[in-house]
Amino acid sequence: MRVLLFVIFMTGIAALQAQPALVPAPQSVAPGKGEYHPQEVLIVFIDPALGHGEEVLAAVSWFTDMMPVKARKKARRGLVILHNKNIKMDGYTLSVTKKQIRIEASNAAGAFYALQTLRQLRTDPLVWQHDGKPFQRRQLGTLPVLTIQDTAVFRWRGMHLDESRHFFGLEFVKKYLDLMALHKMNVFHWHLTDDQGWRIEIKQYPELTRTGAWRNGSMVGRYKDNRVDSIRYGGYYTQDEIKEVVEYARRRFINVVPEIEMPGHSLAALASYPEYSCTGGTFEVAKTWGGFPDVYCPGNDAALQFLKNIVDEVIPLFPFAYFHIGGDECEKTRWKSCPKCQQRMKDKGLNTEEELQSWFVQTMETHLNDKGKILVGWDEILEGGLAPNAVVMSWRGTAGGIEAARQKHDVVMSPGKPCYFDHYQSKDSTEPVAIGGYNPVEAVYAYKPVPEDLNAEEKKHILGAQGNVWTEYMPNSKQVEYMVFPRQCALAEALWTAKPDRDYTDFVKRMQQHIVRLQMMDVRCATHILQTQTR
Ligand code: ACM
Ligand code: ZN
Repeated sequence: MRVLLFVIFMTGIAALQAQPALVPAPQSVAPGKGEYHPQEVLIVFIDPALGHGEEVLAAVSWFTDMMPVKARKKARRGLVILHNKNIKMDGYTLSVTKKQIRIEASNAAGAFYALQTLRQLRTDPLVWQHDGKPFQRRQLGTLPVLTIQDTAVFRWRGMHLDESRHFFGLEFVKKYLDLMALHKMNVFHWHLTDDQGWRIEIKQYPELTRTGAWRNGSMVGRYKDNRVDSIRYGGYYTQDEIKEVVEYARRRFINVVPEIEMPGHSLAALASYPEYSCTGGTFEVAKTWGGFPDVYCPGNDAALQFLKNIVDEVIPLFPFAYFHIGGDECEKTRWKSCPKCQQRMKDKGLNTEEELQSWFVQTMETHLNDKGKILVGWDEILEGGLAPNAVVMSWRGTAGGIEAARQKHDVVMSPGKPCYFDHYQSKDSTEPVAIGGYNPVEAVYAYKPVPEDLNAEEKKHILGAQGNVWTEYMPNSKQVEYMVFPRQCALAEALWTAKPDRDYTDFVKRMQQHIVRLQMMDVRCATHILQTQTR
């Protein structure tokens, strides 16, 4: 295995030095003749009309590494980044001539994505080396003369991360965002609360993190083994840290969607404030995975106010318009025997507990809409009637997404197949334990988020898709990396490039180089796709 990995690595380095591979592939590349040879100092001009000049300049330094950069008011040589209103949002043209690197875009994000492409055009593999020490000063190296025209097909190119089941911390989240940016992904869905841990400081309710962020044990091995250790486990982000992540993301043109789960998956909160359940508790933060019957009580006005107060504290931390309230897998047994819930149903003329859930989601939606936010929920929010302005995230297959689009609601696709990156990526018996399923890289690469059965108008409601990373079986960040890469690369190409006639063999060929880059960046990337190639 080691020898095989070494061979992959060396072949990848040789390939990197030969011709750089781009991931995700641009819409079109026209190769030219010759090379651009950089000067000692890179002169940079950024058209102020693009906006976000500081962020674009920061991205220039990602590309140039430690090479000195001089920003100029005007430049004909070096790197010239121009505003061109005729280019589609987030798209760009990049032309490298013998004299100049020229980028045109209609917005700063487009320029940012051009710079990500430019990074990948660098042939020196050492560019990607990150060993925890400061980068050494290196020459830019030559760039091939070419013209690239590029644009994103989908506007929601997302990655999710569950930090309730396991908690990874600030540095890893930043790395996760860096890797998303490298692959031109632009929405980070941050799953911050669940039964197994509450991970965001709420100043009005300190018990949420004092109690709710910690559990007195975690599952060991597979769920069916029914073994739990007794190690205290947990952690959370302060609001200052949350702001730091959101700002870090903003500088990478990534929007962050917080997910505060309700009415189910709420045991960590109820362990902290049991009075907002139907029974009054007591509860403890869950040590095992899976669903739990104790959930928030929508019959209790105080519980609704508690949730609204939390939402009001979370909203100012996340400038993106979308706010995820979960809504999935809410067990309704307690509601059936809860006098307050039953009274609420009577008062509101609701016939089923599904309708009670729908009433609850609509109540939260009104609150969010009043604050200028759009509610996002998992596809269970369709049950009992969809809230008027909600965005549906389709995870139990695509039926929920199709239904929502037919009801003229926006949809983000993340069906278990192939968007759940907690599923196995290989059938090899030596794979580390995962939750189940089978989503090989090839299936992710082939994914087309827009269902064929929708008509042209309905299809417009599919904003894009995202990879979901539930971390029951990912105890540390290295395991997250192993499950996410290279599947993220495949999804990025399915969302950015989205060529109908995509060529998996070509993708694998490019990944031979790209995996080396990821390894140089200290990403624990799975290599199954290369092993089947070399066998
Ligand atoms: C989910 O996977 N429960 C959304
Ligand atoms: Zn109740």
